[in-house]
Amino acid sequence: MLRRAFFFLIITVYFISPAQIEAQPYGFEGVQVCAVCHKTEKQGQQLKIWQESKHALAYKTLQSPEADKIAMKLYNKKAVEAKECLKCHASGNGIDAKLLGAKFKIEDGVQCETCHGPGSAYKSMKVMKSREESIKNGLIVWKDNAEIKAGCVKCHNPESPTYVEFKFNDMWAKIAHPTPKK
Ligand code: HEC
Ligand code: HEC
Ligand code: HEC
Ligand code: HEC
Repeated sequence: MLRRAFFFLIITVYFISPAQIEAQPYGFEGVQVCAVCHKTEKQGQQLKIWQESKHALAYKTLQSPEADKIAMKLYNKKAVEAKECLKCHASGNGIDAKLLGAKFKIEDGVQCETCHGPGSAYKSMKVMKSREESIKNGLIVWKDNAEIKAGCVKCHNPESPTYVEFKFNDMWAKIAHPTPKK
């Protein structure tokens, strides 16, 4: 038994390179990468539901004259140049450009990975097929509606200059995107 454990240790140490031991931050791939496997009716059309939601327009909203007016008044900057606005209206802002995949576009606003976590390590079919492996590789999931709501109110809160009261049930119904039961 002990010998087997020792052998296992050797194998593990041998195969994990120092680069892997240093915690690698996960990178953002962009909605187009997730879309490949999450767009058909059978899969639940997560792409379409997202495209039709305001989250897909969150960055474009910052390019409007209305947004600039708010940002000028608060920060004396254009809205797309204000990290104070980008933090809720875009994904992956302010992170090392090396961690942004080739298909990542900031213009895509609040994307899959804004909520589900950056997907560079979990996006492969091999990992995604297993919920457990996906979570180990950075996929964020939630236990119940209370946890989901806690995630929403990180942005849907009075720090938003245009805040309107967040009614969880109504708002979640507008963007829910379940995988159909098999
Ligand atoms: C190569 C195909 C593929 C890609 C790319 C992919 N997924 Fe998946 N994903 C799957 C499969 C297969 C499942 C398993 C669930 C199912 O039966 O549809 C899954 C499940 C999920 C789940 C449900 C996990 C759970 O059990 O609650 C989430 C959330 C998810 N994917 C998000 C993403 C995001 C975000 C991206 C982009 C970073 C992405 N996926 C990219 C294939 C993929
Ligand atoms: C990263 C920040 C962020 C998170 C997290 C977030 N949202 Fe949003 N949400 C926004 C922004 C920004 C807008 C406004 C986009 C626009 O109008 O351009 C928005 C808009 C919406 C809208 C459209 C509002 C309307 O009046 O039609 C709905 C619905 C919504 N969010 C639901 C949710 C739900 C439900 C959650 C949690 C599961 C959530 N959001 C999590 C940033 C976020
Ligand atoms: C505003 C946050 C938000 C965005 C944006 C978002 N999701 Fe989700 N997603 C959630 C939440 C919350 C759940 C619910 C998890 C649950 O029910 O346990 C979920 C569930 C899922 C599931 C699992 C459904 C199931 O029935 O188990 C998949 C697959 C998924 N999302 C994929 C995506 C993809 C792909 C995108 C982008 C096209 C995306 N999501 C965008 C928050 C988000
Ligand atoms: C704490 C997160 C957060 C921050 C910071 C934030 N927003 Fe938003 N923004 C939201 C959310 C959530 C919505 C949609 C619902 C709402 O207004 O509460 C939104 C909606 C908007 C809208 C659309 C309002 C409408 O009536 O359709 C504009 C314009 C806007 N934001 C501009 C900005 C600008 C400009 C900044 C920076 C000065 C900014 N936001 C900072 C979360 C945020």
